Amino acid sequence: MGIQFRKEEQEFHLFNEEMSYIFSVLPNGHLSQLYYGPRVSTEQSYSYLIQGGQRSLTSYIEGYENDLSLQHLRQEYACYGTGDVLSPAFEIAQEDGSRLSHFKYQEYRVVSGKSSLTGLPATYSTTDYPAETLIVELFDDVTQTVLELHYSIFSSLPVLARHAVFRQVGEQSITLERALSLNLDLPDKDYEWIHLDGAWSRERHIQTSPLHQGVQSIYSLKGTSSSEHNPFMALKRPQTDEHQGEVIGISLVYSGNFLAQVDVTPYEQVRASIGIHPDRFSWSLSQGQEFVTPEALLVYSQKGLNGLSHAFHSLFNHCLVRGEWKGKERPVLINNWEATYFDFTEEKILELAKEAAALGVELFVLDDGWFGERYNDQAGLGDWQVNPHKLPNGLPSLIQNIHGLGMKFGIWIEPEMVNKDSNLYRQHPDWHFHHPKRFQSPSRYQYVLNFAEDAVFENIYQQLYQLLSSHDIDYVKWDMNRYLTEVFSVHHQAENQGELFHRYVLNVYRLYDRLTQDFPQILFESCSSGGARFDPGLLYYAPQTWTSDNTDAIERLSIQYGTSVLYPLSSMGSHVSAVPNHQVSRITSLTTRGHVSHFGSMGYELNLLQLSEEERQQVKEQINFYKKHRATFQYGEFTRLLSPFEQDIVAWQVKSADTNTVLIGYYRKLIQANEGFKRIYPKHLDEEAIYEYKGQSFRGSSLMRAGLVVEPQDFEAGFADFASLLIELKKR
Ligand code: GLA
Repeated sequence: MGIQFRKEEQEFHLFNEEMSYIFSVLPNGHLSQLYYGPRVSTEQSYSYLIQGGQRSLTSYIEGYENDLSLQHLRQEYACYGTGDVLSPAFEIAQEDGSRLSHFKYQEYRVVSGKSSLTGLPATYSTTDYPAETLIVELFDDVTQTVLELHYSIFSSLPVLARHAVFRQVGEQSITLERALSLNLDLPDKDYEWIHLDGAWSRERHIQTSPLHQGVQSIYSLKGTSSSEHNPFMALKRPQTDEHQGEVIGISLVYSGNFLAQVDVTPYEQVRASIGIHPDRFSWSLSQGQEFVTPEALLVYSQKGLNGLSHAFHSLFNHCLVRGEWKGKERPVLINNWEATYFDFTEEKILELAKEAAALGVELFVLDDGWFGERYNDQAGLGDWQVNPHKLPNGLPSLIQNIHGLGMKFGIWIEPEMVNKDSNLYRQHPDWHFHHPKRFQSPSRYQYVLNFAEDAVFENIYQQLYQLLSSHDIDYVKWDMNRYLTEVFSVHHQAENQGELFHRYVLNVYRLYDRLTQDFPQILFESCSSGGARFDPGLLYYAPQTWTSDNTDAIERLSIQYGTSVLYPLSSMGSHVSAVPNHQVSRITSLTTRGHVSHFGSMGYELNLLQLSEEERQQVKEQINFYKKHRATFQYGEFTRLLSPFEQDIVAWQVKSADTNTVLIGYYRKLIQANEGFKRIYPKHLDEEAIYEYKGQSFRGSSLMRAGLVVEPQDFEAGFADFASLLIELKKR
């Protein structure tokens, strides 16, 4: 790994073994992107890639008439007012109404390690995952604003982390109307565009489409990263597949409104951009103030989509997740939501807990309904004190009993919300986002608290601090069950209303930060109606996320497959639930449900008391098997084999850290009449090693090339829909 500056050519070259990233300073002081791809020699300059020449309908850099044009040269962080006519990375409104900027290169510095971002989550470097950071400083003379571009390169991961900082040193106030985290200009358009889309209960399905001239974008303006789109995109070569070929992944470490966009120019170049969505965003800066954009991560792979995922998984597991639960095996949990919904008593909870403990479950999670007047979803949010009618002996006694069963205790909260039927609302009817003269859209009878207002933030912090400091709580499920609409604050000035969405996210992060510092032993799981806020921003604070409210095993194949493009198995909550499934009414076997939920942080979400004796035994075996291989299921190298988006047979595998065990999940959605013989081709085995399966021995190279035969009778369910198989390959 290194960061080279060629003084004569004013050229920066960031490199590690796998990739190079090169840009240089143009004669007008702007930065031009020259190269991003597989590692190239540092022995030479790449300034020959700065191409000029006369073209029609073109504006040029002053003094370089008919030669250098920012309409054609690729930019590092494009701005408006320089001849570049694409969507810029940022835009600054000035006191005289101008939006023109001209930031010129000043100086650079290189620091070892990685910059942290004030108030924002970001990846970090460690001794095992060292990084170096280049900070390039630019300056706009007219507004007297400093712009810092930060680039951190990791030595052992093909990752470049970028963000920008705007610092106002001049006397005039400026307003950022757009401040994306990066743009990446690429020299050709021969890519397909991948993103993870869906909706509630079908989150992060993989979408792939060819690029066309013009803008293609995904975004969220909902206040959370959303179930509809994840703040991620990838550009892959058309011939790239899961296992080979070039792909660039771009992920935003942020949990609010975002824009991810690819603009294909008429000259067949690409500008990819990602950052906070410029709509409903503005940020005022007066002298001495600064604005830091969220971090964007660029990951480069020549090993296909799985190569990209391996890099993201390592990065997130080792350089994003923090605290005591980093790298630690996660407990098998039981969550009472689908077992009881709001209808529970202390007695019912304890009966369920006893049964769970007997089956080997390690953590009991008390979901929604334990606080305030919360008998249904119409009341109680905002009042984080126990409901004495539901739990007459209080939380301490319940927790003590659950701990007495040898289980940890977890609790559900939804701190960003308020019901109008709550004490909090009655005391503070103006604490949620709303405009007094306008309609307020209810969603699940709830409203979003104005976290941009410090008094609101402090009240919720104090309530949660009280809850967590006075009870022996081991786990928290932090939910967020509606999108932000009518975002207006009666507590803010007109000129600050454009800051609310981002201030909201910053204070959600601040609340997480405080609570995780106050209670470092607590395992936090984030949730937003399932996976509406499954993003790297929240993973920084909460190392696991409830992947989706959809617990159907077959639907989960697509959801978990898509989620795994970016997020490691340790971060994905995956539960066995009842049949018929509550979301889609499908009936699948307990075996298949187990085989799907093994690949993640496993739990149960059903009334265990209704299981037959045979099912009880099976659950016990599932839990034992999972615990035996838990480190592999949560932290092993995960590889996708057969995609649910392409066919009815789905497969994936996970390899243990010592490489001795490979566990393959093999699933059939719908059976086909008169099906042909099937084989599965495992990946990343040791070529020469001997692996055992069902009493037979196979050489690694043979399994990878000739495959392993899958017989219909291998499936417990036999020749049927929704059957599954878990193949355990053991190295001899
Ligand atoms: C959301 C969550 C569920 C459950 C309910 C409780 O929908 O995703 O898991 O916690 O809220 O209201």
